[in-house]
Amino acid sequence: MNLLSTKKSKKNSAMTKQYALLLFTFMFTPFAINAQQTVNTLVVHADAPKDTISKNIYGQFAEHLGRCIYGGIWVGENSSIPNTRGMRNDVVDALKKIKVAAIRWPGGCFADEYHWRDGIGPRTSRPTMVNTNWGGVTEDNSFGTHEFMDLCEQVGAEPVICGNIGSGTVKEMSEWVQYLTSDGDNPMTELRKKNGREKPWNVKFWFVGNETWGCGGIMSAEHYANELGRYSYFLKNYADNKLYKIASSGLPEDYAWTETVMKKWRHTDSTTGGWLTGFMSGYSLHFYTVNDWSKKGSATNFTENDWFATLSKTLEMDELITRHSAIMDKYDPQKRIGVTVDEWGNWFDVEPGTNSSFLYQQNSLRDAMVAALNLNIFHMHTDRVTMTNIAQMVNVLQSMILTDKEKMLLTPTYHVFDLYKVHQDAVVLPFELASEDYELSGKKIPAISATASVDAAGLLHINLVNVNPKKSITVRCTIKGVTPKVLSGKVLTSDKMQDHNTFEQPEKVGTKQFTGFKAAGDELRVDLPSKSIVVIELKK
Ligand code: AHR
Repeated sequence: MNLLSTKKSKKNSAMTKQYALLLFTFMFTPFAINAQQTVNTLVVHADAPKDTISKNIYGQFAEHLGRCIYGGIWVGENSSIPNTRGMRNDVVDALKKIKVAAIRWPGGCFADEYHWRDGIGPRTSRPTMVNTNWGGVTEDNSFGTHEFMDLCEQVGAEPVICGNIGSGTVKEMSEWVQYLTSDGDNPMTELRKKNGREKPWNVKFWFVGNETWGCGGIMSAEHYANELGRYSYFLKNYADNKLYKIASSGLPEDYAWTETVMKKWRHTDSTTGGWLTGFMSGYSLHFYTVNDWSKKGSATNFTENDWFATLSKTLEMDELITRHSAIMDKYDPQKRIGVTVDEWGNWFDVEPGTNSSFLYQQNSLRDAMVAALNLNIFHMHTDRVTMTNIAQMVNVLQSMILTDKEKMLLTPTYHVFDLYKVHQDAVVLPFELASEDYELSGKKIPAISATASVDAAGLLHINLVNVNPKKSITVRCTIKGVTPKVLSGKVLTSDKMQDHNTFEQPEKVGTKQFTGFKAAGDELRVDLPSKSIVVIELKK
């Protein structure tokens, strides 16, 4: 019995599952085992592989917000910063290294005031607009559809487009799809060719609005469900391009919204046949790790209580996915409709002295922990979660990369994505984890979090996270079904919780080779340093 095999019991949180295992072991083990001995053990079932971890779980979000696009990615062809057709080479190279799988664009809230026709044609004649959501700055539309598709091609990522239903029209959105993906004899194909792109692109992921409860149009669930049908119906598949249309959700805990949308559009994903099809293949979920929106706190100047509160909050992701997915199960038991967690991550106060609308924040070891905990949670939900997009890719919120004119640095979160890229398209392995608690001020969370997978080449990767900032922990791992050979290990940690990379000291927090493991019989003992993220590579 695999008590913690998370596929089966999605109603329980990761924490509950870990406590359940402890209780189960304590109550039913026929030998007199001290409860103390059962903790900090990981049993990985390499003989029972589960679902594939879609590489699209390793997606990013890039909005026209602050310095994400402008300055962070796009500098223009005439910039002194080395670039390829206007895209920063340093940033593109760094993104390629972590295998960014998908990029969601142009927003966010910006998407629902973006009119795509303003961003095509000669740049000098593109109209400007006011970016009302993000500081009222003038958007000159120099980064538009062709530039975004070029970025995706340079990075090797899937394009993910968010259409405007808040201030746009059905005609406008349906023509954008035609412009991008049709090769037929029609005005949109002609226009695209006139703008220099002969062949259509492939675009799979298409959002029908963003946060339609708020900046995407202040809609009720019922209103949105109707709009979803109206818009979706006119978003057509051209030739062999198949759209994966994604519906907007309500606020993170608005389960009634999920119920309303699912009830109306159940079984209408593109695989079901019939004329009333293809309305919805995915369902969006946004969840930012924020405890108090009126006091978000500094990204780098924080206490251990703040560290604990952030890590504790971020674990709620598991419950959110579990509960939304349970509602979806009622209407879609075969799980044909996926959940996309297309905005997630830490949201702190902006860096002192920066524009408060630009959401520029630093990124510390605490952010690395949040990234790793969430990726571990997503791996537990591979039967439902088809894509995620951390917010945001460069210079905004929990970024991979920060830039300052020609300078660039990689954040601790970037290094987590680098450590975790081995899991892309690998098969997740079920496991049982019994973790001690990390306790602070009378509250507790599990100290250890884990994930494991096997890739097509037969390499096993086990990632272990120790969130306790003051204590190293030894985890005894058993791998069932194979006798693997340990090949190598890597670790991400630093002296202090608050450590982060700066333009003066860009490599303060980074990954190092890890040797803190020992094979003893069929057991692998891993000595996890305090506040660390470790990946061990093994060969079957
Ligand atoms: O990522 C910043 C903003 O957060 C997005 O524009 C919006 O969708 C969300 O509220």
